[in-house]
Amino acid sequence: MSNQKLNAWVEKWAGIMKPEKVYWVNGSEEENQRLFDEMVASGMAIKLNDKKRPGSYYFQSDPSDVARVEDRTFICSDNEEDAGPTNYWKAPDEMKEILLQKYEGCMKGRTMYVIPFSMGPLGSEIAQIGVQLTDSPYVVVNMRIMTRMGQAVLDVLGDGDFVPCLHSVGKPLQPGEKDVKWPCAPISEKYISHFPKTKEIWSYGSGYGGNALLGKKCFALRIASKMAKEEGWLAEHMLILGITNPEGVKKYFAAAFPSACGKTNLAMMVPSIPGWKVETVGDDIAWMKFGKDGKLYAINPEAGFFGVAPMTSMDTNPNAMLSADKNTVFTNTGLTPDGDIWWEGIGVDMPKGTIDWKNNSRDTAEGEPVAHPNARFTAPASQCPAIDPKWEDPAGVPIEAILFGGRRPSTVPLVQQAFSWPHGVFIGSVVGSEITAAAIGLKTGTVRRDPFAMLPFCGYHMGDYFQHWIDIEKNSPDASKLPGIFYVNWFRKDESGKWLWPGYGDNIRVLKWIFERLEGKAEGIKTAIGYLPKAEDIDVSGIEKTRENLPELLKVDPEKWKLEIADIKEHYAKFGNKLPKALNDELTALEARF
Ligand code: GTP
Ligand code: SPV
Ligand code: MN
Repeated sequence: MSNQKLNAWVEKWAGIMKPEKVYWVNGSEEENQRLFDEMVASGMAIKLNDKKRPGSYYFQSDPSDVARVEDRTFICSDNEEDAGPTNYWKAPDEMKEILLQKYEGCMKGRTMYVIPFSMGPLGSEIAQIGVQLTDSPYVVVNMRIMTRMGQAVLDVLGDGDFVPCLHSVGKPLQPGEKDVKWPCAPISEKYISHFPKTKEIWSYGSGYGGNALLGKKCFALRIASKMAKEEGWLAEHMLILGITNPEGVKKYFAAAFPSACGKTNLAMMVPSIPGWKVETVGDDIAWMKFGKDGKLYAINPEAGFFGVAPMTSMDTNPNAMLSADKNTVFTNTGLTPDGDIWWEGIGVDMPKGTIDWKNNSRDTAEGEPVAHPNARFTAPASQCPAIDPKWEDPAGVPIEAILFGGRRPSTVPLVQQAFSWPHGVFIGSVVGSEITAAAIGLKTGTVRRDPFAMLPFCGYHMGDYFQHWIDIEKNSPDASKLPGIFYVNWFRKDESGKWLWPGYGDNIRVLKWIFERLEGKAEGIKTAIGYLPKAEDIDVSGIEKTRENLPELLKVDPEKWKLEIADIKEHYAKFGNKLPKALNDELTALEARF
């Protein structure tokens, strides 16, 4: 390799981490197969039945290493103030001292893999290059699906700069020691650390998901959000979809929902009303910049889907099922006796003798879950039947609507439209959701504020991030071309706890209203919280029974909203003088409207 900085960096860390050998990943098919074969031989992976699931592999993680660890995730800015009230902080020097000790000899008995990767289409102007060092072959095969990686990236990098990403599972092997199935460190020794000033990532102790696949949340959100702030663009936890109406008019929407709140499902949905089409650009992350025409353009920096498995079925999300029908990695699902995968809600009964994610053979799916609630599939985006023709366009796609949403069993209606850009930013800043299983150590089911679905992913002070969003209007080349902003909620429940809205493919009925609002064709009723549809303007053809639920789904209950406003005030108080004045004004105005 001719990149001096890269060579010196790899050499330095090999000296500290002391792997048995250093291997530069080239990204080839042959190399990929060899890694899987080695993991099968070592007992880390099981090859799935080639007739049912060609080229696919099954993994079980350690029971302690099943999701992101938010209280072990750190933003190491020079001043604590700059990490803000929503992030865990440690001083950069202090964190580096702790981690240097952990990294010392951490790869003994293992291979250090050097993974050059590109977030965004190779060589595109918006793409960014990173290089990850890791001692996990599982991470290598996942990064090959989730990013563009290998020799081709080094060719593009040349002598250029890259974001250095360190990763170790934190389980060195003593001479002669037999490896475990899923090496990792105890939770209290895990560190997912970000250095926003120097744009570095140091991760230690976990092999799972966003803790270990460093291109995803660590780079494409936490580090990229900081870059975006400095350079005037947006790095967001958003899906991107294309929607075409029966007349053939196409628009692109981006949507921010918290983890495990429906991004993958919405991005790939099969519309239940005839004539409408939805195509997928991305299911988790959007990078957005203004184009020469003054519109906001989005790219998906990823190349694959790391999707929630439970409840995914041919009924709820056929495009996800078909994306994962080959060349896919499954982690913490069940494994059937005939060598296929199974999870709760997959749409067929569990075959007797299925092995659960904790490796117990099961006669019944009753009791403990067979798949962990955060079990995931890693599948190439190119395998998605609904992939958008422009998904790899380096110019991105023009965004006409931005949707926010979350799991709100009450208070928040099915859909509302913001009055203005600042009102839309207000709505984004107060997104709330019931906590899901996508992170360890939080009480699932309770509602927490997750502004812009970025609570665990913003690489700097959330108050400054709000201001950045407010400023987008003033910095946009033409404010009249900014996307419309909407708030959706598929998760409203009735008194007995049942969903009032069918969700999934029926969400097209809400997207249709949004589409028609953008075209100036649908009416919006002005309420205290935003423009709402009239019940009769939500198309329920084919699901007429749902019409009964629409009054409740669209209800704005002043009593509930008084409680909501009180809760928003508490949420806003955390940001002190960093809360943009424009947002405080929005809150005052909202209160006044009730
Ligand atoms: P991350 O990958 O963690 O960022 O999650 P995500 O936002 O992509 O969520 P995903 O689409 O994987 O959905 C998470 C869970 O929500 C799955 O179990 C889905 O079945 C469920 N879900 C998604 N859409 C809907 C919906 O419209 N209605 C209901 N009731 N559940 C949904
Ligand atoms: C999320 O939690 O939002 C995910 C999964 O998309 S992970 O990559 O683990 O962050
Ligand atoms: Mn996500």
